[in-house]
Amino acid sequence: MQFELLFLSLLAVLASSAVISPLHHHDWSQSDRQFYTAVNAIRTSSPSSLSCTMPQPSDMPSSALPPPSPGLSVFHVAVGRGTQNYTCPSTSSPSSPPLALGALANLYNATCLASFSTPSPLTAVPPILALSASPPALQDTTPPHPLPASSLLTGHHYFTNSTLPTFNLNQASTDSAFGVYFSEKKFNVTAPSGSSMGSDGSTAVPWLKLMVVGEGTVGGDAGVGAGVKEVYRVNTAGGNAPSSCEGRVGETFEMQYAAEYWFLG
Ligand SMILES: *[C@@H]1O[C@H](CO)[C@@H](O)[C@H](O)[C@H]1NC(C)=O
Ligand SMILES: *[C@@H]1O[C@H](CO)[C@@H](O)[C@H](O)[C@H]1NC(C)=O
Ligand SMILES: *[C@@H]1O[C@H](CO)[C@@H](O)[C@H](O)[C@H]1NC(C)=O
Ligand SMILES: *[C@@H]1O[C@H](CO)[C@@H](O)[C@H](O)[C@H]1NC(C)=O
Repeated sequence: MQFELLFLSLLAVLASSAVISPLHHHDWSQSDRQFYTAVNAIRTSSPSSLSCTMPQPSDMPSSALPPPSPGLSVFHVAVGRGTQNYTCPSTSSPSSPPLALGALANLYNATCLASFSTPSPLTAVPPILALSASPPALQDTTPPHPLPASSLLTGHHYFTNSTLPTFNLNQASTDSAFGVYFSEKKFNVTAPSGSSMGSDGSTAVPWLKLMVVGEGTVGGDAGVGAGVKEVYRVNTAGGNAPSSCEGRVGETFEMQYAAEYWFLG
């Protein structure tokens, strides 16, 4: 049933996409047909029979971010759904921009989805997730629509000591043991124009390249993930703060977002 929903949602996304309309089958490009073939494969396969290869760094959505360092390969791909937090201190003026105050997101295993040929069905997932009314509960292991049932909760993204973007890919409830990584943002580019909004109307947060600066053991052992060096946040949907603190002075607030995270090691 979930696969049916995935398929219908993807159709809805495509139907609303100026790039791919009109939806007459004789107009479909080669890449459109590959896209539908991949979606159909996911929809009609049982999760255990899906044949996934590890995606390559070149399978990442392309951007002006620097490429991964030579020799790195894809270790894990996750879809994140959660909130970007902001604050407008009571001392701020209504015209000043909100300040970033970290993030909190559930990460779901999307390595398999990412392995399907370009354009991957994964591309359609963050926009749909970001539009869902509310983020999933932190410990809810059920992948939210439109993720397939096999995309189990891998862990969480949050900030450590207020400053270090952290990826905790250890999640005992789903036997996920891919390691815990502290990182620093090194490169950022504006999300492509036309990127999807969050359910609150927020525009898409920038795409990022983060460098891992340390590994941890929070929530279990470091797992087989020891060795992730770089993390990319791409295909973002929602999450940006409003441009000013107008009407929000003295408040801390959240903006809804989703994104793909690619872990390379
Ligand atoms: C979960 O992640 C691992 C490591 O990246 C990968 O081998 C596996 O195929 C993933 N499973 C799914 C269902 O994506
Ligand atoms: C961000 O929002 C989440 C969800 O409400 C909350 O648990 C978390 O404490 C917030 N983080 C900050 C830094 O305000
Ligand atoms: C966070 O801060 C504490 C206290 O200063 C420190 O001991 C810890 O190492 C820091 N964590 C990281 C990941 O840097
Ligand atoms: C990139 O990050 C810097 C420093 O945080 C910021 O000043 C700049 O506006 C950001 N650029 C984009 C495109 O997000």
